This record gives sequence, C-alpha cells and structure tokens, in this order.
Amino acid sequence: MTIQPHYDYIIIGSGIAGLYTALLAMEHGTVLILTKGSIEDCNTQYAQGGIAAAVGPEDSPRYHLDDTLAAGAGLCNEEAARILAEQGPRAIAELVRLGVLFDTTNGEIALGREAAHRMPRVLHAGGDATGAQIELTLAALARSSRIHVQEYVTTTRLLLNDDGGRVTGVAGLDSRTGKESEYFGTYTVLATGGAGRLYRYTTNPEVTTGDGVSLAFNAGAAVIDMEFYQFHPTALCLPGAPPFLITEAMRGEGAILRNTNGEPFMERYHPQGDLAPRDVVSRSLLAEMHATGADHVVLDATHLPAEMLTTRFPSIYNTCLSHGLGITVDTIPVSPAAHYMMGGVLTNTEGETTLPGLYACGEVTGTGLHGANRLASNSLLETVVFGERLVQRTLEGGWSGPKPEGVVELDEPKATDSKAGPPTKESLQELMWDNVGILRDLDGLDNAARTLDAWQTQLPAGTNQTTHELANMVTLSRLMTTSALLRQESRGAHYRTDFPDTSSTWECHTVITKSRH
Ligand code: SIN
Repeated sequence: MTIQPHYDYIIIGSGIAGLYTALLAMEHGTVLILTKGSIEDCNTQYAQGGIAAAVGPEDSPRYHLDDTLAAGAGLCNEEAARILAEQGPRAIAELVRLGVLFDTTNGEIALGREAAHRMPRVLHAGGDATGAQIELTLAALARSSRIHVQEYVTTTRLLLNDDGGRVTGVAGLDSRTGKESEYFGTYTVLATGGAGRLYRYTTNPEVTTGDGVSLAFNAGAAVIDMEFYQFHPTALCLPGAPPFLITEAMRGEGAILRNTNGEPFMERYHPQGDLAPRDVVSRSLLAEMHATGADHVVLDATHLPAEMLTTRFPSIYNTCLSHGLGITVDTIPVSPAAHYMMGGVLTNTEGETTLPGLYACGEVTGTGLHGANRLASNSLLETVVFGERLVQRTLEGGWSGPKPEGVVELDEPKATDSKAGPPTKESLQELMWDNVGILRDLDGLDNAARTLDAWQTQLPAGTNQTTHELANMVTLSRLMTTSALLRQESRGAHYRTDFPDTSSTWECHTVITKSRH
C-alpha cells in the first residue's frame, strides 16, 4: 500500500461535475482527480439534448422552477429547485467564459424544447453533442492546469478517521499496475455519476456502475430516494446496435412517436402528447409495444426538413446511418432504456453529505432537486450550480450536513442456501431490468431482494476494477430494491402496478443507512 501526498480536495470522477468542481477548487488549494477510466470516459460525453436555463426572452427562473416542480411529482426539494432555476443563467455565462461554444441562430443562443418544459429552454452545442463539447472543453482546461489527474484508478473505499466520524480520503486501485494506494484529503468529493449499467438496456456508458453511492453507503452515509430511477423513452432499438440515445429534442422539433402500425399514440395518454413527462412516455411506449407485440415503437422525423435534421442532430444522423438507417427518410425504431438516477447520496444544497469531510456533486447526489422525475436537461446545469456552492462551502469552514429523519437501516444479509449462484454483471442487469424496471410489483421486487441478498454473500473478493464494480452494483441494486419495496404507491418514475395511485401518505422521502449492528 502506497501513501500518496495530502491534497486539499480529492475529487472522484471526471465528468462535468468532477471537472467543474476541480477547476473552481484549484483556485483555493491542491486538487487530485481520481477516475477509473480515462478522463473523458464519463456519462457527460453522451448528453445530447443540452442544458436547461431560463435565458430566453420570454422565459423566467420562476417558469423554470415551476416546470421542475411539476415534473418532480410533489417530491422536489423546493429550495434546491429554486437555487437551480435562479442561478441557471449565471452558470451558463460561466460555461461560456470557460470556452463552451453553445449553438446560435442569427447571433442569438439557440434554444431547444424538451418534454415538460413550457417553452424552448435547452441550450445545446454541436447540435446534439452538448455533453461531449462541455466535457472536451473542461477536460482540456483540467489537463493544462495544476490539477493532478490520476486516470485508471478505481476507488475501493472511503477512509475514515479513528472514531469513524470523518472521511479523510480514499483507497484506490490502479488498474494498470494493480497497485493499491491511500490518498488523504481535507475534502473528499464524490462526482462519480450514475448507474445505468445496473440495467440490461441503458443509454449510459460502461463506467456507470453507481460506485459513489455504494462507497458512501458502506462508509455510513445516508442515501435517499433510490427508488426513483428515470428511463428514457427513446433509445435506438436495432438488433446488434447498443441502445444509443435519441434525444427528446427531436420530439421538441416535431418528431412523432408512432406504434408499429404507424399510428401516433401519445395524445391518447397525456395532454402534452409527445412532450409529456418522460415517465409517462416510457410507460406509454411499453403499453403500445405490448398491444402490438413489437419490441419497439418508431420515432418519425421524416416529415421534418432534412437540412434541419442533419445540422441539428448530426450525431444521431451519423449513428443511425452507420446502422443503415437514414433518419430523413426512415422512421427510427426506439424503446425505453435506463438513463438517470434521481436519488443518491443524501446531500444538502451546499454539497455536504451526512458524513463530515464527504461532499458530493452531480448525479451521485440526492439533494431532492429532481423529486420523483427529473425535468429534462436539468442535470448538466445542476453540476455547475451546485459544484460552485460546494467549493464555496468548503471555504467557509465548519460543517452543517443534512440531518435526515425517518431513516431505515439496511442489514447485511445472512448467508442463504439460495440456488442463485454468484452474480455476474449480466445476471444483475437482467434481474434489475425484469424486476426493478419501469413497471414494478411486490412479487418482482421480493424476488429481486432475495436474489440480491444471496448475491451479496457470494461476491468474489475485490481484487480488480470488475469485482469492485460488481460489488457496488449489488449494493446499489439492494438499495434501489429496498426503497422500491418501501414505497407503496406510484409517483413519477416509480410505478407499482400493485399500487397504481399516488398517495398523500407517501409525500415523503425514503432514506436508508447501513445498519450498525
Ligand atoms: C435527451 O437529450 O433527451 C436527454 C436529456 C436529459 O436526459 O436531460
């Protein structure tokens, strides 16, 4: 075990949350970024639609706030949502100052429209390559700065001080040398992103195995709202092709969902039609797929101007073309895929978790900002607004982390005689897709809970990146399944076929910590 020099800030993850926070933090101290892949290997790269902010002439933070709260189905932390909406325009100005080139039309910022936004509000870059443009800009700045970046290091656990009350750094495994090191820091920041790889079908890249939530939970931090996982309705569904994201912004430009009989159907399900909230659209797709017996519906953009499609959606155009599909003349087969984790490590609006010394930013957090269903394109903005607040909080000193109520303790499972056999990533992804997916019920959740408990006791020793990721995936799946069992209602992205109604009794959060016994 090698002990590395002490840093002021240790940041785990190199997507927009990690890089932006690091670029601010380096003005105030030494910064180490640890990332388990290459610096650009992150979910941010894949964000297409863009970044929402009330910058349009007709828009206002009040409208952005109201749309966020409406999408969140009664569970948003209103303070977090207000901060996001009010700080949004300033955060965009910051990204522009750092060099992000947002698309313009006639010299004005171009704004796209996405589901559940009352008006066009989504800035984009490179047409549909917004995340990639932001990531490349910030990664280039980080690489040429004094930030110390260590790539290919998997964080294996959080280090605690002697009484276990404070996080003092992390242990990491270099996957190229197999060497383990301990890294000590005053502020440890989780910016590890999401967990799409818990599911068989996902828009997320390989690295999204929910590591940050598991690390925090295992160290004793509280996690919140893990039952709320968002499925994107439109991922490419072609045999042999990965489920590539087909941005909602295409529907914002007028593309129409049709079932395989050619019938448009969203008006039958929701007054906002094709731009209904994402959870509603995902469930409607499942109903249509069930009714037609097909494994997909289609997104039809063939009536839209070809030049607009090729310039506004170049990544989608080229990806589809590489699979023999011309989106200007062919409809696009699509089906839902796992997309965004709305719960996470319980975090206040200053980035503090329940463990002193441990901070979090981005998709790994559970601030309650997204409630039960995230408003499209709020997440890139979240990282910038709350990354800045996190760094500011570290400069003020002291600690005022969240004090959760109604906490449920999750026990370590006992060894069982289950015939489930040890887990693999693939078997876990099947289990989660089939039982803790878009539609849930008691039988499926119970089955998942039992299998996951058995798997937890049969995990291979953590000796490399894959085994550590597998352990994190099992822990996270247990948290999601436990929360989904607890919440006996349907709300936002959490839909229980055995409790199809929303219940005022459940207008509250689910909070879980590891049992101390
Ligand atoms: C999309 O482009 O449809 C996804 C945007 C988001 O998830 O916020």
